[in-house]
Amino acid sequence: MPLSTRVTRLLGIDMPIVMGGMTGTGTVELAAAVSNAGGLGIFAAHNAGSPENCRQWIRKLRTLTARPWGVNLTILPSMQALPYDEYAKVIIEEKVRIVETAGSNPKKWIPLFKNAGLITIHKCVTIRHALSAEKLGVDIISLDGFECAGHPGEEDVGNFVLQARCSQVLKVPFLCSGGVSEGSQLAASLARAWRKTLLIDGDMRNPAAHKLFDLPLEPGFSEVLRGETDLPDAIRPTALSRLWLMSAGQWDNHAVQALAQEGVGTMFEHLKEQYDFIILDSCPVLPVADTLSLGQHVDGVVFSVLRDVSSLPAVYAAQQRLTQLSIPLLGVVVIGATGDVANSGYLYPAIKAK
Ligand SMILES: Cc1cc2nc3c(=O)[nH]c(=O)nc-3n(C[C@H](O)[C@H](O)[C@H](O)COP(=O)(O)O)c2cc1C
Repeated sequence: MPLSTRVTRLLGIDMPIVMGGMTGTGTVELAAAVSNAGGLGIFAAHNAGSPENCRQWIRKLRTLTARPWGVNLTILPSMQALPYDEYAKVIIEEKVRIVETAGSNPKKWIPLFKNAGLITIHKCVTIRHALSAEKLGVDIISLDGFECAGHPGEEDVGNFVLQARCSQVLKVPFLCSGGVSEGSQLAASLARAWRKTLLIDGDMRNPAAHKLFDLPLEPGFSEVLRGETDLPDAIRPTALSRLWLMSAGQWDNHAVQALAQEGVGTMFEHLKEQYDFIILDSCPVLPVADTLSLGQHVDGVVFSVLRDVSSLPAVYAAQQRLTQLSIPLLGVVVIGATGDVANSGYLYPAIKAK
């Protein structure tokens, strides 16, 4: 299991990646694909159009995946309210295991679902709402910061501010959403979840992480690879507690050649004993072999794909190279989606009907 957290253990999934319910796009087919890939797929109940159709969707989803999945119940104030009670009844009658509530105060819904034995996730945009959901007995909080896709609420609090505070005050585990698309952000999120995390800037030819954390470039990864610096001297604490950085260091051909040597594997084994998570931010797969060499030592790779920059043939070719070397590809994060993609048709059915 590449990434084991409280959330993966509670939900029975392989990776801490949860697809929140999505109006319009959150169908059973998409939910099944996410679940089959090791995350938690969730479809939005109202996408089915009626409680009875929701029942059919639940039954269909069961045929598409044997992995855990869930149903989202989004309750938004509207002129023509949807039959939420009936949706909830169907979810319980169909013995759904995991439910995600969102959109309003869950005080009616969490006890109802908990009494029926479901695992509950509540999505919120403020600390006070997270705390009251916790008091109601929710199992997991899903935090939607201002940067998140979809409807970010009206409080305008950034994701990392929410995470920082929630890690201090919440006892239940929480999911982070919104704006997390690069290695440094993933590392910061894991550290916020109270896990000892090391970020290594493995993009030696184009280093950036040290600037982000306002730390020196060297000594870092390159110096360790050349045997000029001992590991502890290349690792520095960052402004975020529980997050350490090994900067890229001063790159040269000797450092790159050393990537293929045995000592690198031993170094990672040593680091794995000291940290809960090691996030290795690496360079593009195709132009140079660095990522393929480093890939020999990781548990999984997450691709960052930049909209309008990464071409489909290049993404495919990169995926092929990783696969040929048996480097496990965990998933893809698409960066740079603009409003036309993120918000197209983003209207709730009842509002649309007006
Ligand atoms: C097109 C779209 C529709 C969404 N609709 C809903 C919804 O109906 N109910 C809900 O709880 N969340 C909805 N969301 C929010 C997602 O479930 C999730 O919380 C959010 O996308 C997380 O932000 P991120 O994608 O930036 O990580 C929607 C998101 C998108 C992109």
